[in-house]
Amino acid sequence: MKILGIETSCDETAASVVELLESSRTSNQSTQTSAVRGAAEEAQRTVQSGTESEHRKSATKHSAVSSTRVAGSASKQGATVCRLLSNVVASSMDLHKKYGGVVPEIAARSHIEAINPVIEQALYQAKYGQGFGHNSGVASSASQQAVTADGLWDDIDAIAVTYGAGLGGSLLIGVLAARTLAILHNKPLYACNHVEGHVYANFLTETPLKGYSLPSSQPQFPLLALIVSGGHTQLVLFRDHFDYEILGRTQDDAIGEAFDKVAKIIGLPYPGGPSVAKEAAKGDPDKYTLPKAKLQGRFDFSFSGLKTAVLRLAQAECGVDYDFPSYKLPEKLSEAQKADIAASFQRVAVETVVDKTVATFESYRPKSVVIAGGVAANQELRHQLEHRLSEAIAQQSDGKQTEVARILHYTDIKLCTDNAAMIAALGSFKMKLKQPTADPYSLDIAPNLSM
Ligand code: KG4
Ligand code: ZN
Repeated sequence: MKILGIETSCDETAASVVELLESSRTSNQSTQTSAVRGAAEEAQRTVQSGTESEHRKSATKHSAVSSTRVAGSASKQGATVCRLLSNVVASSMDLHKKYGGVVPEIAARSHIEAINPVIEQALYQAKYGQGFGHNSGVASSASQQAVTADGLWDDIDAIAVTYGAGLGGSLLIGVLAARTLAILHNKPLYACNHVEGHVYANFLTETPLKGYSLPSSQPQFPLLALIVSGGHTQLVLFRDHFDYEILGRTQDDAIGEAFDKVAKIIGLPYPGGPSVAKEAAKGDPDKYTLPKAKLQGRFDFSFSGLKTAVLRLAQAECGVDYDFPSYKLPEKLSEAQKADIAASFQRVAVETVVDKTVATFESYRPKSVVIAGGVAANQELRHQLEHRLSEAIAQQSDGKQTEVARILHYTDIKLCTDNAAMIAALGSFKMKLKQPTADPYSLDIAPNLSM
């Protein structure tokens, strides 16, 4: 089955097509199996026979989507392969840079301009290959005309869209586009949680697209997900698809938010995560001692104290008082001080999440550990977690020597930050496992949606 994913929760307008196949199939055998094809056909029949009022009734069912348990699991129904057929992302990040963060109104306007060409380019690339249009950007108007004339929708079995969490105005554009297309092309619609989507980026293991480094196998259940993004920091145990428990979460700032704020303190450009990581490579991670939060909840996190400690450290290094305007700090800090602050902050922020992830791993012994979300792009996080998990595995008393590479999963950096491939991957499992469809006449956005 092939799913079109649409994601517009923040400043990226993204569309992607993902194909779900049985694992016994090789990448050039694109015939769908009866199990997977059956789910697609059943969902299609529901759409064809459904009246508008039936669609409305199913919308009520949909509110239970995020916590639904499925009786027959994918793991029990046979392994699958998720192929990335196209991945198009148009970012409005450059427009936000001068404000030091995303401006919701500008993001929403940019989505309106980009949404149609991005979706068309994703469909086009999935059907005709990467050579048609480039991989990140918007299709030219000439190719768009060709696109509308083509039977691009024939192969698409369903549409998956992010309906939360995110910026209201941004989510609205993606959801309205998906609803309209679902009605127009008579396709089932799946409403996806953005944060859950980040985890599903790790299920993509094959692609004909150039420039992607994907994991060789899908993670297995029980699966421990460390979700680290600009809005979320949480440890989630998935017993199976759509059957999960949140073990720990941040009590204040998300780790990505802390990277972004520290970047501002030391005068690095937005987005802060990649800037701090780049600066940290030039500095000494042990130069400064910074605090790690101690919390009551064993697997919970806190980053606001660390962020304040970095501010106090920068003030102390500059020899100024607490009331000195923070935006003037960067001009007083030397390049070496900035690099050492970035490196020391990154080491402690990463250690904080790695400590908790390893403690959770030791308590629950999952088969896989997955890093998901924008901060999963961070190399220091990948290295520290790999190292500490290997130590934890080596101490296992059952004598089994499992390699860390078989347990720890992370994906291509382009699929860690916001994209629609993760939404299409999540949507494909929703369809395969017969999760409820959303009502294209009434699906609403949920800006504060949690897992
Ligand atoms: O998942 P994402 O793209 O958007 C949200 O859902 O929030 O995550 C964005 C966050 C930002 O805070 C950004 O600074 C951070 O991920 N980030 C990084 C890196 N790349 C992106 N943080 C640390 N190191 C990176 N290499
Ligand atoms: Zn995200």
